[in-house]
Amino acid sequence: MADGWISARAGSGIFVSDEAPRGRPHALAQFLTPAKTDSKARPLAITYGSVDDFPLVPWARIQSKIWKAGSTSALGDECDIGWPALRSAIAAHLNALRGIRCDSNRILIVSSTQSAIDLIFRAVAQAGEPILMENPGYPAARAAIRAHRLQEIVVPIDAEGISIAEGEMASPEARLAYVTPACQFPTCSVMSASRRRELLGWAERKDAFIVEDDWNSHAFFESNHPPDPLASTNPDRVFYIYSFNRIMFPGIRIAALIPPARFVDKMLKIRRAIDCFTNVANQMALEEFIRRGFLSGHMRASRLTNLARRAAMHRAVLAHMPDFVTVDPVQAGLHVVAELHQGADGPLAAKARRRGFDCSALSDFSLGTPSRQALLLGFAAFTNDVIERSVADLSRALFDEDCEPAALARA
Ligand SMILES: Cc1ncc(COP(=O)(O)O)c(C=O)c1O
Repeated sequence: MADGWISARAGSGIFVSDEAPRGRPHALAQFLTPAKTDSKARPLAITYGSVDDFPLVPWARIQSKIWKAGSTSALGDECDIGWPALRSAIAAHLNALRGIRCDSNRILIVSSTQSAIDLIFRAVAQAGEPILMENPGYPAARAAIRAHRLQEIVVPIDAEGISIAEGEMASPEARLAYVTPACQFPTCSVMSASRRRELLGWAERKDAFIVEDDWNSHAFFESNHPPDPLASTNPDRVFYIYSFNRIMFPGIRIAALIPPARFVDKMLKIRRAIDCFTNVANQMALEEFIRRGFLSGHMRASRLTNLARRAAMHRAVLAHMPDFVTVDPVQAGLHVVAELHQGADGPLAAKARRRGFDCSALSDFSLGTPSRQALLLGFAAFTNDVIERSVADLSRALFDEDCEPAALARA
């Protein structure tokens, strides 16, 4: 009120004053979902991993050991751009799990995939420059593209991932592409070997760069090993991102960014200009967590948990919605794409949300009209019982005309 933004009218209330600017929201705000007000996953949300099985006891012991040791290192005293021991541990981890061979000096520790993408665009992209982007695609990447005022060239996704031939046709001058090859968001398709070759060939031919978001490479069920990352084949053309926020828990705020060697110095300088480094005690704890095998143990265990939850989801969908949706049995990822036999996914997902489900539609992540209509049903954050009950209730809420809403209150 003192600044003149709001004014009081006696007897009627407090109002936004006529002087208050009524500009349009910042472009970024249009592409991000509203801030979450609670941290608990509502049934069938796709944005949560299985944090309930995270081994908190060893994590807490390691954290407490770090603080008890009384070293000033944990206070961030000597940490520049990333705790050196953590960078070495991540280099070994990525070598063993993802076949990436790289010197630890090439690894930058950042706080998220989002911050890595932002850093990459600052280092290599100019406003107005075209970038090939998966469609449907990851809204946080799309938000970064808009924030940097890049020109988004949408490239349709099919069962084999992005087709770079289509992207090249749409924008022959594009020199940048964002992709999620191990597990496409949100279709969960895995990029085929031939598409990988084409993408790398394009980058080489065009002197272009690929942003590889290697998320969910741990959520691969058909064999023990997800396909090799693009960065393991051509590290000079790929900015590789590997986030611990999803593999461990979102609050850890640690991700690794591996740029092509010639960009490391430039990116370190940019990083220094933004926020220098991420929480050091967490970095130290993660280093010990990796070194002592807790991370690989957790990844093995949560793969089994997710495998069981995924099977529960498939069973529930088959039991309760067989006439309405079909789920592809081979896709990767921590949610299933339940393709609708008929009708539009947007209104159906909106109806589900009104009934208390955190339900997303494939078209929520698409620009233009998507080639298929599907509901995205998350399973990683829920026990088998909750999955079974939620899918049954969701089916009643969406497809049963005589649905009794009281049953849904349990979900
Ligand atoms: C496509 C994709 N990439 C990366 C991430 C992890 O993001 P961050 O590291 O910013 O938490 C997510 C999280 O859901 C995602 O959907």
